[in-house]
Amino acid sequence: MPLRVVYRLDHGTMPRKAVQGGPTSLWRYQAVLPLADGEVTLSEGWTPLVPAGDDVWVKDEARNPTGSFKARGMSAAVSVAAALGARALAAPSAGNAAGALAAYGAAARLPVTVAMPDDTPRPFVEECRLYGAEVALVPGTISDAGRWLRANGPADAFDVSTLREPYRVEGKKTMAYELFEQCDGVLPDVIVYPTGGGTGLVGMWKAFGEMRALGWLAPDARLPRMVSVQAVGCAPVARAFETGAERTEPWPDPATRAYGLRVPAPIGGFLCVRALRETGGTAVTVAEEAIGPATARLASTTGVDVCPEGGAAWAALEVLRDRGWIARGERVVLFNTGTGLKYR
Ligand SMILES: Cc1ncc(COP(=O)(O)O)c(C=O)c1O
Repeated sequence: MPLRVVYRLDHGTMPRKAVQGGPTSLWRYQAVLPLADGEVTLSEGWTPLVPAGDDVWVKDEARNPTGSFKARGMSAAVSVAAALGARALAAPSAGNAAGALAAYGAAARLPVTVAMPDDTPRPFVEECRLYGAEVALVPGTISDAGRWLRANGPADAFDVSTLREPYRVEGKKTMAYELFEQCDGVLPDVIVYPTGGGTGLVGMWKAFGEMRALGWLAPDARLPRMVSVQAVGCAPVARAFETGAERTEPWPDPATRAYGLRVPAPIGGFLCVRALRETGGTAVTVAEEAIGPATARLASTTGVDVCPEGGAAWAALEVLRDRGWIARGERVVLFNTGTGLKYR
């Protein structure tokens, strides 16, 4: 069962005005983060909202250190691990989390071991090595990489796998706090989010709950409808949502070039499904052939450096508009979770 950080929050914990003068990184929300000082930071977060047509904005997470939103989670997780005396760090990854862990481990002067599927594009691998990490390439998916690491990784390394420790979610939840500030306190109607392990989705959902306790949102405020985007070749969250199941089932033979979505057995899958249901959201699966062209459409109409996962989200948005699930005039924020430049 994933651990969850719970804070004692009230209207005085983090007044909106007090945050406004804070650093332009996720550490502006330190009052709702798990560390009072001594953070390991490369200035992650506070990414822009780029207009992408009528009532649509892209939250461009490619602008983070190491080019993805994984920097947020790793800044928080490595900060706490270092403060608690960890001597080494390890995690399996689809690519982006490994690069982020390698960089934050370097910043903290802690040795890092990462394991990735052996078909992970080379730039992800080279980046980790540049930051001094040990890299293992393992046949199969991120689940196999995790199994390999638990059996063969350094015994003294602290495991920062998705949702096996509670702090990566804390870093990622700051995407929701930023949205609130950037939208001047009026949250969008819909959030479209490419989902693998689900930490971003679960983190933002947690943050909305915290905002109620902080007095940023009224107790009965409507939350954005959260949309999980997955690829047809690996869609455990979407399948559970569609069948009414509470839990995700492991996806056999997962395949997609949007590697961040190739997570066949997310341990927080049940939390993703809950977040979708409780916010009135939905799940969309995108055909593999649709991802490349949608990535190009979004990049060429906005100038954003779009990754395949962000492209999948754009394809899903187009489907939801065609179906009328997103009505004209509704405000939508779509997450481009990383840079597209490493997928070659
Ligand atoms: C670019 C990209 N997008 C989305 C995801 C999925 O993220 P989450 O674990 O928050 O669902 C990943 C995870 O590897 C990723 O690298």
